[in-house]
Amino acid sequence: MTIRPETSLDCDAIRSVICEAFHQSDEADLVEALRSARVLEISLVAKEDNSIVGHIALSKLKSPANSLALAPVCVVENQQGRGIGSSLIQTAVAEARSRGFSMIFVLGDPDYYSRFGFSTELAEGFPCEYSGSFFMALPIGKEHLEPTSVIYPKAFGGM
Ligand SMILES: CC(C)(COP(=O)(O)OP(=O)(O)OC[C@H]1O[C@@H](n2cnc3c(N)ncnc32)[C@H](O)[C@@H]1OP(=O)(O)O)[C@@H](O)C(=O)NCCC(=O)NCCS
Repeated sequence: MTIRPETSLDCDAIRSVICEAFHQSDEADLVEALRSARVLEISLVAKEDNSIVGHIALSKLKSPANSLALAPVCVVENQQGRGIGSSLIQTAVAEARSRGFSMIFVLGDPDYYSRFGFSTELAEGFPCEYSGSFFMALPIGKEHLEPTSVIYPKAFGGM
């Protein structure tokens, strides 16, 4: 299994993988809207036997500055449970850190994301329309971020 940044040739395969994993097209539409809006900061694909089997997207938040939203991440059903999702998340977090970002926010299952260091407690100081028990934050920079509103890119409005 290899993980690499998306290329323009991957867009159709990424859409198929997302639709298959989520059993709907909303998340694929989101990725395409983020790409069109040029806020898709990190978009990685996982390849197995020359096919794309997983994808992760991190997009630039409107606020706080220098922060990212992780969404969506997925792996096709017949490849789940093999560590591909974990590798995608770990690789994306490392890439975000190397690009100098300060914080990553995610809305998801704390049982899953806590294993990568995401914390609901850390997100509590950051008011957001998605605030609640599924809203988590992962600090990845050296700077301390003052609590401030988390504002997602407009593309998330359709979710
Ligand atoms: C969530 C997802 C990306 C994980 O990918 P994966 O390659 O199967 O994950 P890994 O193999 O790295 O990890 C598997 C572990 O995650 C756990 N896990 C998977 N989905 C989970 C969820 N929604 N909540 C809690 N734990 C979950 C599995 O139980 C397994 O636990 P174990 O290591 O204790 O056995 C994948 O299951 C998927 O695409 N799901 C459908 C789309 C989705 O819900 N995406 C996340 C929301 S944006």
